[in-house]
Amino acid sequence: MSRPFYIAANWKMHGSKETNKTLLTKLKQALVDYQKAQILIAAPFVYLDQLSELLVDSRLKFGAQNVSQFEQGAYTGEVSAAMLADIGCSFALLGHSERRHLFAENNQLIAEKCKQLLKQDLQAIFCVGETLQQREAGQTESVVKQQVQALIDAVGIKALGKSILAYEPVWAIGSGKTASPEQAQEVHAMLRAYLAEQDQTLAENIAIIYGGSVNEKNAQSLFEQKDIDGGLIGGASLQAESFLNICKVV
Ligand code: PGA
Repeated sequence: MSRPFYIAANWKMHGSKETNKTLLTKLKQALVDYQKAQILIAAPFVYLDQLSELLVDSRLKFGAQNVSQFEQGAYTGEVSAAMLADIGCSFALLGHSERRHLFAENNQLIAEKCKQLLKQDLQAIFCVGETLQQREAGQTESVVKQQVQALIDAVGIKALGKSILAYEPVWAIGSGKTASPEQAQEVHAMLRAYLAEQDQTLAENIAIIYGGSVNEKNAQSLFEQKDIDGGLIGGASLQAESFLNICKVV
């Protein structure tokens, strides 16, 4: 399989200058020769500058958890894609379910944000996933397809070529309830097949990573699935030991 493999940490609203430094120093040391996956760290905006210094000679890449839909101007409190590029980010999360549900981000807004990332040549980690209610109603497939298609309609399928797709069932995020490897593989394969209907090469090459209560115990069985190309790790990325143990199973 020639697809890239990613292990992405999503720190969410956690960290401090001191804990970031301790965590990243441990990761950098332990991963100095690590080549099995590309490690990505999504940190809060205010710490991105700190990450750019701490990771200067490292293979670990860092990025943001959000970005403004606007290019520049009078948008108090917003951070532009150009600013992220300026500070050395290589990616941003896009459409995370916490943004969709807690901050009312809809498909249209997410597409605008994606356009800004593309203009700056930043990689998007585009998150999709169904709620528990939707899964129980048998709507998983239609929900995630709709989320993907809305982005494709706005930016074009080719623009997705640079992105990473993350399947994150909402019911599995931060809940300790991981999707089983079979459940996750089923959705990943379905998404890949759906993309293949529109662009076969892109579908074969795009990394589709899984997120939702990934930890050191379940990572291996998830990562062994043929359409799972890595993980987006929240809680277990905050401790060096658990994150490193996840990196080791690749
Ligand atoms: P979790 O978060 O690993 O804590 O479930 C994953 C995510 O929200 O990206």
